[in-house]
Amino acid sequence: MPDMQTSATVAPSPIKGGFDEDRSARFSERVVDLFNGAAVTLMIAIGHRTGLFDAMARLNAPATSLGVAEVAGLDERYVREWLATMVTGRIVDYDPATARYRLPPEHAAWLTRGNPVNMAVTAQLIPTVSMAQDAIVERFRTGGGTRYSEYPCFHAYMAEDSGQTIVAALFDHILPLVPGLTERLERGITVLDAGCGVGRALIRMAGRFPDSRFVGHDLCEDALEMGRGEALAQGLTNVRLEARDLTGFAEPEIYDFITTFDAVHDQKDPASLLRGIHASLKPGGYYLMQDIGGSSVLERNLQNPFAPLLYTASCMHCMAASLGQGGAGLGTMWGVELAESMLREAGFDDIVMHRLEHDPLNAYFVCRKG
Ligand SMILES: C[S@@+](CC[C@H](N)C(=O)[O-])C[C@H]1O[C@@H](n2cnc3c(N)ncnc32)[C@H](O)[C@@H]1O
Repeated sequence: MPDMQTSATVAPSPIKGGFDEDRSARFSERVVDLFNGAAVTLMIAIGHRTGLFDAMARLNAPATSLGVAEVAGLDERYVREWLATMVTGRIVDYDPATARYRLPPEHAAWLTRGNPVNMAVTAQLIPTVSMAQDAIVERFRTGGGTRYSEYPCFHAYMAEDSGQTIVAALFDHILPLVPGLTERLERGITVLDAGCGVGRALIRMAGRFPDSRFVGHDLCEDALEMGRGEALAQGLTNVRLEARDLTGFAEPEIYDFITTFDAVHDQKDPASLLRGIHASLKPGGYYLMQDIGGSSVLERNLQNPFAPLLYTASCMHCMAASLGQGGAGLGTMWGVELAESMLREAGFDDIVMHRLEHDPLNAYFVCRKG
């Protein structure tokens, strides 16, 4: 996976006058590439949701469109059209002599379930945020924002995405960032996940540490309902998922450990949430904030390979969802510089920022309350 590089500033294209014919021709070619990239991304998301990539990886041999459709349990005509996109998009190999298709293992490694990074999960971001396209176009004229209910698949997508970046790495890479945490969780402490969504990280911790108590708050009841079902199915009694608008949240010195996973920048009032988290920790407690690891300075994001994707997610969802609550509209790319200064303003003076190898998109701030 490409790395996020946000510490250096890359010069943007200089602003020039006149009309450069070559530049114009190159640009039109680039736009065609962009169209095709967007189209293939949409179809990668479809390939994930329909299980087509997994079926082709299981096959692990050349097959006709009928063969692929049968293994996937899908309609051949749709599968054939999808395969045509995949062949011309250079995702799937094709033998014209036998009309057989094959997903090469080198590509399957990035597009199928059961791999450490399934990029087909992330491809779903584009169709998910596009669900509110009409509302967003209107907000460009009127200002204001969106409601979470305008993105019907958002919580399911988010749970799947954070399932591979956060939940899968929780015990080996993320929790060990906090000094002494695993031992304290084993002995029994009180934990809050603020903006927990479906709450899979919390549910996983609750299963691993039965002597600790876990609370999750989120604005969206439908996300929590999914999580409650999962906790119930696992017979967990030490996790509580409760709908709550975290604006103005504070429960003084209740919690030993508080987490937010990608859940500060789209809040209505991120600064007050951070102050509330500081107030709600017991002295010596820790706050672990995972958030997008971009830069607050636009030009530093020029060499960040994910920047256009993240600014799009912001405009179409995160910024808009915060503005829709009458909030700050901080945006997905609020950046690590602003994040650190807001953590300090909230009262934290012991802050360490980490980057993790498995997760080039995010930054992890470990903050101790003195
Ligand atoms: C990007 S999602 C992250 C969800 C989850 N932490 C995860 O990693 O899968 C951000 C979450 O913040 C929640 N949120 C936004 N504004 C909120 C508010 N004012 N109060 C409580 N939760 C809020 C949203 O409902 C959403 O579930």
